Amino acid sequence: MPVYDFAVGQTNPETFPVEAFKQAALRAIEAEHDAYNKYPGNLGHEGLRALMAERESQREGVEVSKDLIAITNGSMQAVTLVGQALMQGKDDIVITEEYTYSGTIGAYKGIGLKMVGIPLDDDGMRMDALKETLAQLSDQGTLPRFIYPLTTYQNPTGTMMPRSRKEALIRIAADYDIPLVEDNCYGDVHFTGEKVPSMFAMDDGLKHIYIGSLSKILAPGVRLGYLHAREPLFSDIVSKRFDAGSNYFAASVVAEFYKDGIWDHCEIANPVLKNKLDLVDAGLQKQLADICVWSKPAGGLFMWVRLPEDVDMDKLMAVSRERKVFFAPGAAFHIDRKNDPYIRLAFGHVPDDLIVEGIPVLAQCVRESRTSNEAVKFTSLFG
Ligand SMILES: Cc1ncc(COP(=O)(O)O)c(C=O)c1O
Repeated sequence: MPVYDFAVGQTNPETFPVEAFKQAALRAIEAEHDAYNKYPGNLGHEGLRALMAERESQREGVEVSKDLIAITNGSMQAVTLVGQALMQGKDDIVITEEYTYSGTIGAYKGIGLKMVGIPLDDDGMRMDALKETLAQLSDQGTLPRFIYPLTTYQNPTGTMMPRSRKEALIRIAADYDIPLVEDNCYGDVHFTGEKVPSMFAMDDGLKHIYIGSLSKILAPGVRLGYLHAREPLFSDIVSKRFDAGSNYFAASVVAEFYKDGIWDHCEIANPVLKNKLDLVDAGLQKQLADICVWSKPAGGLFMWVRLPEDVDMDKLMAVSRERKVFFAPGAAFHIDRKNDPYIRLAFGHVPDDLIVEGIPVLAQCVRESRTSNEAVKFTSLFG
């Protein structure tokens, strides 16, 4: 029985550059084997830092210094480290979207942060709701330690925050003097339309922290990400790590691989991903347009699907498991695990033929999990 795995947010193995990566590894070992005998330290491989500084400078149109970049063990280490560094005590609060990356929920709850979620609309975190929440928290004397928004191809919803809303968010955070932690790990997984600049590029405030990754443009198995902030926050956060630095060997190979052009590989990988997105979209259009709505993001690896109100989520999970179609339930991304009828489809690593075959199987599972035949009452993804 085929397995239709839309659950895990991974890159596409079909476009992994095996030969070029092999050659890069040989060159890196030749050139850098002496350095492998030392601990890399808090900032990590200088060549990779310089390349990531160049990546950010070019994409965002602002100067980024390699001395303000620290290589981390995937972006997840940066997400966790920032939480640990900014947290001051028990019951400290972090604000995120109501639905956010499940790994972040695990990490922040794991270190004892309380999460307060802001509802989303088609443009990401809602600023009216954020203002209201901050006013309430301010009245109670419990302002959050930081705000963690996923503004670009949000995981799980795929939303992208437009420039005007980013400006509003920067202003609100500045008014309350709250650090903004921008996790932009999908920044280069871009398919259509104009790219909106990152908030760190729009704002030279000192309380802005930026996180990037190599998992989404190359491969998660290299476990490389990075953290960027301005001083004194940068040194403050980096001084809180005690792991002697990130994998220098992996960093040296990746730096060698990217030496001649960071976006060359994205230019090959992104159109293949875009085609997969189109295939899922076409399948949903054909199978579920009468009862579901979904996002068609301009980039990233996920589609967010709103199911009829009467879908029994437990039944859906059980039936889908039997038919070997896997996806992530909305509750996995809700900060309080609210089990509303949403699912996230990750399309990046699924072979095209399995997408074409798998979406009708998924659609059948959804229909069988309904408890009535009533017409759905919603016409949009949120609200
Ligand atoms: C928003 C977000 N941040 C961070 C990560 C962690 O990625 P990595 O540690 O592989 O860079 C992910 C992975 O899916 C993610 O979606």
